[in-house]
This record gives sequence, structure tokens and C-alpha cells, in this order.
Amino acid sequence: MVRRAFHQIAKEQTRATRDGRTLAVRQAEERDIPAIMEVFNQGVEDGVATFDLVHSQEQTGAWFLGHGPLEPILIVESDGLLVGWASLSRYSPRMCYDTVKELSVYVRREWRQKGVGSALVGRLLRRGAELGLHKVVLFVSPLNRQALNLYRRHEFRKVGVFHRHGVRNGVWLDIIAMERFLDER
Ligand SMILES: CC(C)(COP(=O)(O)OP(=O)(O)OC[C@H]1O[C@@H](n2cnc3c(N)ncnc32)[C@H](O)[C@@H]1OP(=O)(O)O)[C@@H](O)C(=O)NCCC(=O)NCCS
Repeated sequence: MVRRAFHQIAKEQTRATRDGRTLAVRQAEERDIPAIMEVFNQGVEDGVATFDLVHSQEQTGAWFLGHGPLEPILIVESDGLLVGWASLSRYSPRMCYDTVKELSVYVRREWRQKGVGSALVGRLLRRGAELGLHKVVLFVSPLNRQALNLYRRHEFRKVGVFHRHGVRNGVWLDIIAMERFLDER
């Protein structure tokens, strides 16, 4: 059943840009690891996306392989170039949180503000609902206005703020926690 759902993604297309370019959405494969890393590291370098440091290919590979059948990673590509990716990752190793996943989304610099992030998040939420997931959570910097706009547009609700929660360059920074139910219960 899960395998069939993934197969459907591979065949789906979405028109996500205002200039009418057709972008293909599909499940990520191992061959995408270098491009996933590249786009993630752009987010790190740009400052507000994550408190994390740049990832190596080995770290990205381990992260990729750590995703099970209930943890989809989707990519958008245009003419073979990976222009963005989004994932539902394990939120906690505790079994009681098995159907709660954490969302990440990263779009290649020159492809931002074209609807790619919104297309990815929309498609990933639909896929999460199809997989029977309960809830998606995420953590976002109060300074990341673009991401906050994107998440509000997709009906994420602010849960609260973790104050001085993550450290970057020796400075403690706040992080906003958001949630969105997928099963309406
Ligand atoms: C945050 C991020 C994922 C948003 O992705 P994006 O592709 O730029 O977002 P979108 O283009 O879907 O939406 C951005 C804007 O484009 C507009 N837009 C939506 N559909 C569009 C379309 N078809 N064509 C053009 N613009 C469109 C939206 O209205 C939105 O405007 P708003 O910000 O004023 O609401 C992206 O900026 C990014 O990768 N940032 C670095 C990594 C990061 O911060 N990740 C989140 C970590 S919490």
C-alpha cells in the first residue's frame, strides 16, 4: 500500500511557478543525496533556516537512510535539477509519537519565491494524511519570515516559543514550535 502511494508521487506533476514552468515532484532517491545536501547547506549559510551547521555528504546520507516508510522525503526538480526538497522526519524515538512527524523544507536560493516551497509542503501534507499520520510539527526561527508565511498559509498553528533554545555562534536563540493535525482528531 505504502509502496503504491510512493509510486503515485513519481507520476505526479505540479505547475508551481507563475511563469508556467512545470515542476516534477517525486520521492527522493539515494542519488539525490548530494543535491539535498547542497540545498540544505545553502539554508544554513543564509542564516535563519536552522541553527545547524553545514552537513557533509556522509551526514546527509545517514539522515536519508534513517527515513522509514512513514517518513517521506519529496523533491521538486526542473529539467533534472533538484530545486527543493521537503521531509517528514521522526519527531521522537518514543513509540507514543510514531505518527507525529517533523517537517523540514529547503528551496534552492535562486528558486525561492516561486511557489516551490508551498507546492512541496502542500504535497507532503497530503502524503502524510494518506499515510495515516496524526500530526506534523516544526520548529522555526522568529526571524524566518518567509518560512513563517509559508507555514501559516498551510494552516500550521503556533504552539509556543522555546526561549534561548538553540545556540549559534555562541548566542542562544529562540525557536517557535508549530503544529498541524492531519487526521482532524
Ligand atoms: C522558506 C522557504 C522554504 C520558502 O520556500 P519558497 O519556495 O521560497 O516559498 P513560496 O515561493 O512557496 O512562497 C513564498 C512566496 O511566494 C509566493 N508564491 C506562492 N505561489 C507562487 C507562485 N506560483 N509563483 C510565484 N510566487 C508564489 C507566496 O505568496 C509567498 O509570498 P509570501 O512570502 O509573501 O507569502 C525558502 O525560502 C527557503 O528554502 N529558505 C531557506 C531554508 C529555510 O528557511 N527553510 C525553513 C526552515 S524552518
